[in-house]
Amino acid sequence: MYKYDNIDKTLVDQRVAQFRDQVTRRLNGTLTEEAFRPLRLQNGLYHQRHAYMLRVAIPYGLFNSKQLRTLANISEKYDRGYGHFTTRQNIQYNWVTLEDTPDILADLAKVEMHAIQTSGNCIRNITSDAFAGVAADEYVDTRPICELLRQWSTLHPEFAHLPRKFKFAVNGAKEDRTVMLCHDVGIELKKNVVGELTANIYAGGGMGRTPILGSLIKTELPWQLLPSYLTALLRVYNRFGRRDNLYKARIKILVKALGPEEFSRQVEGEWLHLQNSDDNFTQVEWDRVAKHFTKPPYKTLPMLTTEHILENVSEAEATAFTRWLERNVKPHQVPGYASVILSLKPHGTVAPGDATTAQMNAIADLADKFSFGELRSTHEQNLVLADVEQAELYELWQQAKKQNVALPNVGLLTDIIACPGGDFCSLANAKSLPIAKAIQERFDDLDYLFDLGDISLNISGCINSCGHHHVGNIGVLGVDKDGEEWYQITLGGEQGNDTSIGKVIGPSFYADEIPDVITNVINTYVNHRSEDESFIQAYRRLGVAPFKEAAYQNAKKKEKADAKSAGESV
Ligand code: HEM
Ligand code: SF4
Repeated sequence: MYKYDNIDKTLVDQRVAQFRDQVTRRLNGTLTEEAFRPLRLQNGLYHQRHAYMLRVAIPYGLFNSKQLRTLANISEKYDRGYGHFTTRQNIQYNWVTLEDTPDILADLAKVEMHAIQTSGNCIRNITSDAFAGVAADEYVDTRPICELLRQWSTLHPEFAHLPRKFKFAVNGAKEDRTVMLCHDVGIELKKNVVGELTANIYAGGGMGRTPILGSLIKTELPWQLLPSYLTALLRVYNRFGRRDNLYKARIKILVKALGPEEFSRQVEGEWLHLQNSDDNFTQVEWDRVAKHFTKPPYKTLPMLTTEHILENVSEAEATAFTRWLERNVKPHQVPGYASVILSLKPHGTVAPGDATTAQMNAIADLADKFSFGELRSTHEQNLVLADVEQAELYELWQQAKKQNVALPNVGLLTDIIACPGGDFCSLANAKSLPIAKAIQERFDDLDYLFDLGDISLNISGCINSCGHHHVGNIGVLGVDKDGEEWYQITLGGEQGNDTSIGKVIGPSFYADEIPDVITNVINTYVNHRSEDESFIQAYRRLGVAPFKEAAYQNAKKKEKADAKSAGESV
């Protein structure tokens, strides 16, 4: 894992002192809220519905047990005993006070963490594959490039005031686990035919009000040239991106307006005189950073089969443990090891992605005991122990169960991505967390969930799409109608290699109708699927019509009942 050098350390410490001074001036009234706002946003501090919210960066989702203990401690000391892991691999605290924030940042700095650029119109925390460096389907370990890009983009003076926020995703595996095409820039790392590391660049993706998938604008860019190429790309955006309309300020709007070919041509034009810039990465820089991402001291172990792993497991536990192996345990590059996903989606009890102080401390212990003290956060708002010995999976499972993080629902219907919605967010049109809870409670039967197989359901409380509803197989979006909370359903979205944007099926529903609507949609899948066909495959084959019909079937019944009762009362 990357270790701060003196430059990193000085920079972060200086930022803490600077922010402490800014907060003091805000509190004693010498700084107006208007002047303070951009300063706090540059340090990840939002003002939400009830309190301040602090977003802490977890660069490319990689952190260690010491850092997690600090995050746990912060949740206990300064918040309400929990933290919320987000879709971009960060962690958020919902209940901090302005007075405490400098101390929180100081605590974070002690363990090489910060909140710089987790908000504001700058290059945000870079997301990457949570399984980078261990995934069995990996072409390239993306972590050194992510770290080089982090260093390049942190406090980059030219890109501190872009037209809007700017998000990178870096993927280096066969399967895309970063929703690369829904980022402002997606960087796909691959080795070319002669074994050199190169990048394909996708630009102009994003969700929100206008969901658009990124377009391929550059192929096989040598990794060394990433800074100069990205500088050119950002310059074109910085110059021509719209600043007159907040909703049209993202790069996706510019790429769409120009067309990907023209956008790419302009970037190439800008890049011509930058290609040989001193900014480019060098092998020396790579070596300096890459030494932090060498493999941990793996043992030489035999590759175990599931039968082996199950050998000493009692009959009573065999089914539950096998389910967990099937859903939450992923193949590893090194024989005898596996990666484990700890589910932060217990059914109906806490918000998706939330972890309590006690859980965070216990998970830090698990990381120390089973996975070289390292952790990853995922785009689906779960946590990963990347390097677990297969022989220790059973013991880990037993301990994870005690912490309520071993539900085998990874990739299933209840592994819901949900934004904080109306419970916390001042931009929300509707609540998301109670909807997630109601769905999890309705679909609490693991046998049934396993029978349904892979299916994603994502919920956003407003069109900003923090909950990624556009790319859920089933998406739920909170909408406001005359001051009331309604929910619109999209179907056919997909995150992964076949990333696609879901389609709105029609008029929206009341909150209490949603579990029935989802049930009807799911029943349609169950009734029409052919063998081994996943929900999304069935949807693509059948089209929206039967699902739509099913979704509104209760509404029709209700209309009839309403009409009848209205008739009777006349
Ligand atoms: C769990 C909490 C949150 C997460 C995980 C989250 C993450 C995200 C993500 C991934 C997007 C989609 C952007 C894209 O596709 O490019 C987004 C959009 C947005 N978020 Fe959040 N966010 C959270 C909370 C908030 C809060 C509290 C605010 C404001 C107070 C906020 C303001 C926005 C806005 C304005 C957008 C739309 C801008 C855009 O993407 O075009 N978000 N957020
Ligand atoms: S989607 Fe809307 S409601 Fe949900 S967190 Fe984002 S801005 Fe808030």
